[in-house]
Amino acid sequence: MSEHTRKRVAVLISGRGSNMTALIDAAKEPSYPAEIALVVSNNPDAAGLGRARAAGIVTATIDHRPFGKDREAFEHALQRVLEAHHIDLICLAGFMRLLTAAFTSAWQGRIINIHPALLPAFRGLDTHARALAAGATTHGATVHFVVPEMDAGPIIAQAAVPVLAGDTPETLAARVLRVEHEIYPAALRALAEGRVAIGTIKKPPV
Ligand code: GRF
Repeated sequence: MSEHTRKRVAVLISGRGSNMTALIDAAKEPSYPAEIALVVSNNPDAAGLGRARAAGIVTATIDHRPFGKDREAFEHALQRVLEAHHIDLICLAGFMRLLTAAFTSAWQGRIINIHPALLPAFRGLDTHARALAAGATTHGATVHFVVPEMDAGPIIAQAAVPVLAGDTPETLAARVLRVEHEIYPAALRALAEGRVAIGTIKKPPV
């Protein structure tokens, strides 16, 4: 696939960036319909920044702290960087900042996230510990469109893993992470090829 038809993707991270790495690795395949054109972190110390640079990917850091509570100003800075790099699609990959409805609405249908649980179960944080505490026998990961409500957008892909006797949040997280690395590149491929989209609900004629 030519560079002109591949979608330009920004991956937004805050930490180690293992899902980011899975996306970068998938996009090395010439027939993959997207290229990772940019990695952005709100955390200057994110380990994923080094991993991205080592893979030859352009990185940007937009530290959220100087913006204080002003989420709009942070997002304006983010938007400027995304536009400067002609970004078509955004993948959130362990990005630990809440985005405003204005931002997610502006990118609706072009911004996706990976969540370490089988949504709609276990929205929010500490999903593995909560799944164990709830006695879940199956757990997993979900890739979904981002909408203003957190972890509530339409689902693109899911993968389930068993919860095993003796699991700790760490052992369960590691099992889930392995399937995250499979479904995120697959979901981005589907989005970049136009095989998934957020539908619009039309009102019936009165
Ligand atoms: C993953 O478990 C992802 O599902 C969640 O945050 C974690 C990020 O891990 N949103 P990594 O930075 O991709 O390694």
